[in-house]
Amino acid sequence: MYLPYLFFFSLLLAASSNALVQDFCVADLSLPAGPAGYPCKKAASVTADDFAYHGLATAGNTSNIISAFVTPAFDAQFPGVNGLGVSIARLDLGVGGVIPLHTHPAASEILVVIEGTICAGLISSFDNVVYLKTLNKGDVMVFPQGLLHFQINSGKTPALAFVSFSGPNPGLQILDFALFKNDFPTELVAKTTFLDVAQIKKLKAVLGGTN
Ligand SMILES: *[C@@H]1O[C@H](CO)[C@@H](O)[C@H](O)[C@H]1NC(C)=O
Repeated sequence: MYLPYLFFFSLLLAASSNALVQDFCVADLSLPAGPAGYPCKKAASVTADDFAYHGLATAGNTSNIISAFVTPAFDAQFPGVNGLGVSIARLDLGVGGVIPLHTHPAASEILVVIEGTICAGLISSFDNVVYLKTLNKGDVMVFPQGLLHFQINSGKTPALAFVSFSGPNPGLQILDFALFKNDFPTELVAKTTFLDVAQIKKLKAVLGGTN
């Protein structure tokens, strides 16, 4: 082969083999995250603890207005998942607990019930079809990326589930928080949702919204 081409191909091979030998990118939490996650910690300072997380062993405190608590193990808590396209969280639902309608802009979700009974649903964006299931111990349900969904404890005992995500930082937008937990002017919420002003003011008061 002509020598300059040979040189070019050996450079190309060197570049692609470098990409392949990067086994992981444990988050360096001392630096800010960008759209692709956190910068990588130096491989020499990575330890086994970076690939394990104990924070999901403890039940979340469900003494709150939704009687529910989500404990995340996303890249910010669990540096080992950075760059891997996966993460996980623990979902504790007290009796009557609810995770209100919400979306994860950056990941699909798969839920597995460990204890109790959960009524879960998702709504398609294309034609607003509601898909509902009642899930018991061992059942799983998947929630496609970006779609509105919810979980309710529909049993008589506390419920426990784990949810894993197809990204290290799935993001979260809770519909009621977007409408009632900020300074979105009441008249504009009314105009854009067709809800009554009295109902909007009531929910703003409950959630700490203003205007
Ligand atoms: C749970 O949260 C409530 C309300 O903030 C608090 O009063 C209670 O002490 C907490 N319980 C535990 C076990 O931390």
